Amino acid sequence: MTEMMKQIALASRPNGAPTPENFRLEELPIPTPGEGEVLVRVHYMSLDPYMRGRMDDSKSYAANIPVDGKMEGGSVGEIIASNADGFEVGEFVMGGFGWATHAAVPATGLAKVDPKTAPITYSLGVMGMPGFTGWLGLTEFGRPKSGETLVVAAATGPVGSMVGQVAKSMGLRVVGIAGGPDKCKMAVEQFGFDECLDHYAYDTASALRKDLKAACPKGIDIYFENVGGKVLEAVLPLMNLHGRIPICGMIAWYNGTSEVDNGLSGQQIWRHILVSSLSVNGFIISNFWNRLGDFHKAVGPMIAKGDIAVQEDITEGLENAPDAFIKLLTGGNTGKAMVKVI
Ligand SMILES: NC(=O)c1ccc[n+]([C@@H]2O[C@H](COP(=O)([O-])OP(=O)(O)OC[C@H]3O[C@@H](n4cnc5c(N)ncnc54)[C@H](OP(=O)(O)O)[C@@H]3O)[C@@H](O)[C@H]2O)c1
Repeated sequence: MTEMMKQIALASRPNGAPTPENFRLEELPIPTPGEGEVLVRVHYMSLDPYMRGRMDDSKSYAANIPVDGKMEGGSVGEIIASNADGFEVGEFVMGGFGWATHAAVPATGLAKVDPKTAPITYSLGVMGMPGFTGWLGLTEFGRPKSGETLVVAAATGPVGSMVGQVAKSMGLRVVGIAGGPDKCKMAVEQFGFDECLDHYAYDTASALRKDLKAACPKGIDIYFENVGGKVLEAVLPLMNLHGRIPICGMIAWYNGTSEVDNGLSGQQIWRHILVSSLSVNGFIISNFWNRLGDFHKAVGPMIAKGDIAVQEDITEGLENAPDAFIKLLTGGNTGKAMVKVI
C-alpha cells in the first residue's frame, strides 16, 4: 500500500486578513528521494509573519506562492531515507520543507541540527532565522552603544526578545512594547526589559507617545522597527539626533488594512528623518546568511549559559497550522510560533 503524507496548500489568495478557507489540507503519496536528495520526516515547522506576504501576488523580495501551491516555510526534521553522500538516516536537518509532514529535497543547502547540543526547535527560533534577524539588525544597523535607549515592539516574539536581550547585555536602556499585560510582564520579568508598554492600552498614538516619553527620559536612540502602525507614529517624534531605525518588519500593515490611528503623512515621516538626521535601514535577513556563523559565535554561548531566555509557542498538528498562523498575525502567539508536526 502506498504510504501517504499531508501538506497544506494555498487554496486562494486572502483579501485582507487570511481565513481558514485560504488553506487546504491535502493527502498525497510520500515521495521517493532522487539522486542527491534526502527524504525528511518533519518534526517542527516554523510559522513566520513573512509568510503572509508570500500569499499575495504583489511584487516582493521573494517569489509568491502560486494558488494551489504548497505553503512555504522552514522546518526541522529527521532524515528517513537518503540518496545523498554525507547525509545519514536518523540525522536531523533544517530546511525549507514547507507546510508538510514529509519532503524529498536536495541535500545541498540543508543545515544539520544536533539534537544533543540544543532542543531542535531552537534551529527555527532563538538560534535560527528570527534570532539571527534580531541580532543582525541590532548590531549591524542599530549600532548600539552603552547608555543609549532602544525601543522595540513585538517584544516577546523571537525577533523582539533577541533584540531586547542583546541590547540589554550591551548596556542599553531597553523599552518594549507588547500586546497585553501578560506579555508586558514577560518582557520585563523573563527577558529583562527595563519597561514594557501595552499597545492595546492606548487608543491613540499620542497617548502611547506620552508614556513612551516618560519611559525614555533621554529620548530614543534606536527604534527597532517590527510593526509600523500606531507604534511608529508614537515613536518617531521621540527619536534623538543621529538615531537609528533598522526596519525589520511592519506587521501592523501585513493584512493590507489601514489602521484608523495611523496619522503620520509621508511628508511628516520624511521630515522627522531629516531634522533628526536619522539612519533608516531596511534589511532582509536572507541577504546576510554569510553572517550566521558570527551570530552563533556571539549568541550561542549566551544561550548555552541561560543568559538569553527562550519562549516558544507550539501548536500540535499540521492541520492546525492555518489557525495558528492567523493568530500569529494579530498577536495570538506568545513566543516563537511553531507547529509540532510529528
Ligand atoms: N527583515 C527580515 O528579514 C525579517 C525576518 C524575520 C522577521 N521579520 C519581521 O520581524 C517582525 C517580528 O517577527 P517575529 O517572528 O518575531 O514575530 P512575533 O513577534 O512572533 O509575532 C508577531 C507579533 O507582532 C505583534 N503585532 C501584530 N500586529 C500588531 C500591531 N498591529 N501592532 C503592534 N504589534 C503587532 C504581535 O505581538 P504583540 O501581541 O506583542 O503585539 C505578534 O505576536 C515581523 O514584522 C516580521 O515580519 C523580518
